[in-house]
Amino acid sequence: MPAVVLVGAQWGDEGKGKATDLLGDRVDYVVKFNGGNNAGHTVVIGDEKYALHLLPSGILSSGVTPVIANGVVVDIDVLFEELDALDARGVDTSRLLVSSGAHVIASYHRTVDKVTERFLGKRRIGTTGRGIGPAYADKINRVGIRVADLFDPKILREKVEGALDQKNHLLVKVYNRRAVEVDEVVDELLAHAERLQPMVADTGLALNRALDAGDTVLFEGGQATMLDVDHGTYPFVTSSNATAGGAVTGSGVGPTRIDSIIGVIKAYTTRVGEGPFPTELFDANGEYLLKTGGEYGVTTGRARRCGWYDAVIARYSARVNGLTDLVVTKLDVLTGLEKVPVCVAYDVDGTRYDEMPDDQSAFHHATPIYEEFPGWWEDISGCRTIEELPANARSYLEALEELSGCRISAVGVGPRRDEIIPIHDLVHPRA
Ligand code: IMP
Repeated sequence: MPAVVLVGAQWGDEGKGKATDLLGDRVDYVVKFNGGNNAGHTVVIGDEKYALHLLPSGILSSGVTPVIANGVVVDIDVLFEELDALDARGVDTSRLLVSSGAHVIASYHRTVDKVTERFLGKRRIGTTGRGIGPAYADKINRVGIRVADLFDPKILREKVEGALDQKNHLLVKVYNRRAVEVDEVVDELLAHAERLQPMVADTGLALNRALDAGDTVLFEGGQATMLDVDHGTYPFVTSSNATAGGAVTGSGVGPTRIDSIIGVIKAYTTRVGEGPFPTELFDANGEYLLKTGGEYGVTTGRARRCGWYDAVIARYSARVNGLTDLVVTKLDVLTGLEKVPVCVAYDVDGTRYDEMPDDQSAFHHATPIYEEFPGWWEDISGCRTIEELPANARSYLEALEELSGCRISAVGVGPRRDEIIPIHDLVHPRA
């Protein structure tokens, strides 16, 4: 013990690295439990910036065992590319564990992802095109390929045949593409087996043993609450459970073992891809947040859609994740605004909603009801305690805490690792 879950509380890119940094060297294991290489975090090694998409951020800390757990979908080419790039920079990646139960993204998943999006036209999801959705669809359809299958060529061939059976009909007859050859896929996957094998483990067992031994395990969620396939803005979501429950099913650690659940939330809101976003701004303020916040995607380079803080979403996130703590990031981006609006409720066709509508059509029609807070002009990046913040910034945070229904345990005040105000310890084992 303890087990700490970290999730994004909005639509992703909240800056989870800030919270991870606060936990620092107390963490023994960092577990990726959902998603795949659709995620993206920028890490700085020496003077170089490097974008990781699949590997958990813990790969960079010596002494931490990074784990790709069963809930993840693994593109093995990307895994090896990221490992090679880190090895070339002298990062020791030898501790990485990959679950034998994780599903594999094969080349046909990427193909299906791209052709499906094209086919959907105006109804497209705006996926990252990495094959995430089709790999999870195969998992649920029980025609997926798991990491363990790579070590049994006969079984692998049978499974690839099963996976391609319907897919080839779809590719050829509906999408007008060439059929995928079974041999090609089997050879591609088998070519990875030898290098992958030493990393493969029963990660659920390893993590339970680590908790038994008193180690600290951090479960780092990919994507975020509003992109969760069950609790997000379906169908404009990713295909995995990015909420705290996903840490449990995606890792093989039971819910009673989790101690704290941290939600990371920006002091405003961003979203990439399609889908409803009530507080989205289309004016100079949106442009200001985009530019000042440097809101461009790490994985696709797309400009993120920007809007004000949405307390309805914050409350919803606190509820569906059972958050114990909120880490507010990028407060500094709001510095210099005359007034800072916060969405406190929605108006849906004349009816006030204080809670997230449970019907997507209502959410599509939601327009924000704002409360405005006075802004501040002082540079806050040097503040390291709440008391050092300008009074208006403090009032803004107090309002967020009250409206979101969860205590704020840290506040990011600048892009650098140390530009953060710690308030409450994020590791707090339950009594
Ligand atoms: P997919 O995960 O590639 O299937 O994409 C589904 C939706 O999730 C799209 O709107 C993506 O832009 C979004 N998405 C996936 N990963 C991330 C992420 O790490 N940050 C923000 N949005 C993401």
